[in-house]
Amino acid sequence: MPTPDPTQAIEALSSESRLFPPPPAFAAAANAHDRSLWDEAARGHEEFWARQSRELLHWFQPWDTTCEWNLPDSKWFVGGTLNVSYNCLDRHVLAGLGDRVAIHWEGEPGDVRTVTYRELLDDVQRFANVLKSLGVGRGDRVNIYMPMVPEAAVAMLACARIGAAHSVVFGGFSAQALADRINDASAKVLVTADGGWRRGEVFPLKAQADAALASTPSIEHVVVLRRGGNPVDMVAGRDHWWHDLMAAADAECPAEPMDAEQLLFLLYTSGTTGKPKGIMHTSGGYLAQVAYTFKYVFDHKPGTDVYWCTADVGWITGHSYIVYGPLANGATQVMYEGVPNFPANDRFWSIIEKYKVTVFYTAPTAIRTFMKWGTAEPAKHDLSSLRLIGSVGEPINPEAWMWYHEHIGGGRCPIVDTWWQTETGGIMISPLPGVTATKPGSATHPLPGVGAELVDEQGSPVSRGGGYLTLTKPWPGMLRGVWGDPARFRETYWSRFPGRYFAGDGAKLDDDGYLWLLGRVDDVMNVSGHRISTTEVESALVSHPSVAEAAVVGANDPTTGQAIIAYVTLRGGASADEKSLRDHVATEIGAIAKPKTIYFTPDLPKTRSGKIMRRLLRDVAEGRNLGDTTTLADASVVDELKRRAEAAAPED
Ligand code: PRX
Repeated sequence: MPTPDPTQAIEALSSESRLFPPPPAFAAAANAHDRSLWDEAARGHEEFWARQSRELLHWFQPWDTTCEWNLPDSKWFVGGTLNVSYNCLDRHVLAGLGDRVAIHWEGEPGDVRTVTYRELLDDVQRFANVLKSLGVGRGDRVNIYMPMVPEAAVAMLACARIGAAHSVVFGGFSAQALADRINDASAKVLVTADGGWRRGEVFPLKAQADAALASTPSIEHVVVLRRGGNPVDMVAGRDHWWHDLMAAADAECPAEPMDAEQLLFLLYTSGTTGKPKGIMHTSGGYLAQVAYTFKYVFDHKPGTDVYWCTADVGWITGHSYIVYGPLANGATQVMYEGVPNFPANDRFWSIIEKYKVTVFYTAPTAIRTFMKWGTAEPAKHDLSSLRLIGSVGEPINPEAWMWYHEHIGGGRCPIVDTWWQTETGGIMISPLPGVTATKPGSATHPLPGVGAELVDEQGSPVSRGGGYLTLTKPWPGMLRGVWGDPARFRETYWSRFPGRYFAGDGAKLDDDGYLWLLGRVDDVMNVSGHRISTTEVESALVSHPSVAEAAVVGANDPTTGQAIIAYVTLRGGASADEKSLRDHVATEIGAIAKPKTIYFTPDLPKTRSGKIMRRLLRDVAEGRNLGDTTTLADASVVDELKRRAEAAAPED
């Protein structure tokens, strides 16, 4: 067995030598085709962001100071005023683009709507007046709990227009989760819907909202969109139909100038412990960052691209790369209400074919699910409109990357693996698709304007191998705090390594200086003194031809400290035994990383945003009672795993 290297915060086990330079034709036409953005940012960090902000946004009043930085508090574009909804809507209509499609919306049952920029602006103005008529003003909070419908974006932009902060809660969250978030934010108004479509059925959103509303004293009014057509209880005086209020509302609501640091939204992240944190984002800096990253990472070509991000608006990805980034750039996008397997496993591919999607952004968990369903599904459709594809939310295993590259990207589309967080507001680490040669599974390098560095336990920079991922410079889209809890903000993000933002993730730098995300450091295992990342063992398992998905955890072990326990889902029709998989891991990354036990399972426990819940798997592996399972997408998966673990346990 090799000796542990005490200088390595996390050991770097795997190596990847495949390299994919941008196709020359793509690079020639790309928004960024050389290193000039990096050079410019290196010459002057603040000047770089100031130029982006000036060129990409419309400011009513220019700012006096680009950045005020008193760690951990930052302010950007201080003294400037703008209106976020004006930037996303009015200026495009004023430029003569009112008839451009903003959203090709498709409901799960197959109903469709086409929403132009002019129509979106009309709806946003009316809804802004609705909110005003319900007593919402600058600085108030509005909760949004909706299915994936254009009205979710309308409600968000209407808040932005009048300076109210929105707090969107994913429609799959429970009544309790909604109530907690409403109460933490003391929201005045809740915007919801009767129901939405999911897996061929209407889910009753209003009934969930009603259960929450029993314990949310701050809510004065509820606006209910008719979508599912399901019966709902309406409380007189409190609950109002969206269509009634819209019909009565004034058509015009001029966009007023807002301070650059006006609170734009709160978005709650659950984290592993404690109550959810209301992450605060403000207006000017956030919009500058999402507009810039959308333009360069997705190489956006206004008027020709058809972009599709499969996230829900309830997550930060939906905020930044469905609503604010694309609309600030005048993009045309697809928005889809439902699941990828209704009515069949090829729904996404049929949508890409139908709308001739050119840029597609999804999550590794979805890609691994598609791998499970097999290559015949995408092969049924013409995906040749695609020119660029992206990934977000988790490390993408090299084999999932290769599958995505081959079967969705047709071998010709660059892949942007984008690392960021709810807290960072926008993409931080990613290839620029016309410049960066990519490696399967690596998010490559910090974007121009982003300072990222790996450090060891002591906080000293690491130039090769594993470490903790920290951010070294303020950036415009950075969180401005945790709502109502400045101490928690400082403690969570700024205390571990003085002077640095610590994101909670481990990563490694390879010999060529490429960054590889290794997952949350809480997920690092300690096996015989070796600090091994779950991500690397999972990727080694997924590189076996029979494996579609794997989750790995460290369970207490009397001999080795922790032992590696793996949960593996096989590809459709494939078979494999435990020994062959253990041997495969040994070959791929070394005997030290061989799982002690492998459980085969048809599914893995995931959060509703698709992240594997390793904490629960650790509980199962160590025979503990399960802790909080409320954020789990499908609780039956864990019961099944527990049953299998118990069945496999020795008699004593
Ligand atoms: O662990 C990282 C992982 O997702 C975390 C942030 O989660 P959330 O705030 O829900 O935002 C997800 C969408 C931005 C990170 O701390 N993560 C996100 N993107 C990647 C990733 N891990 C590896 N590679 C990525 N591309």
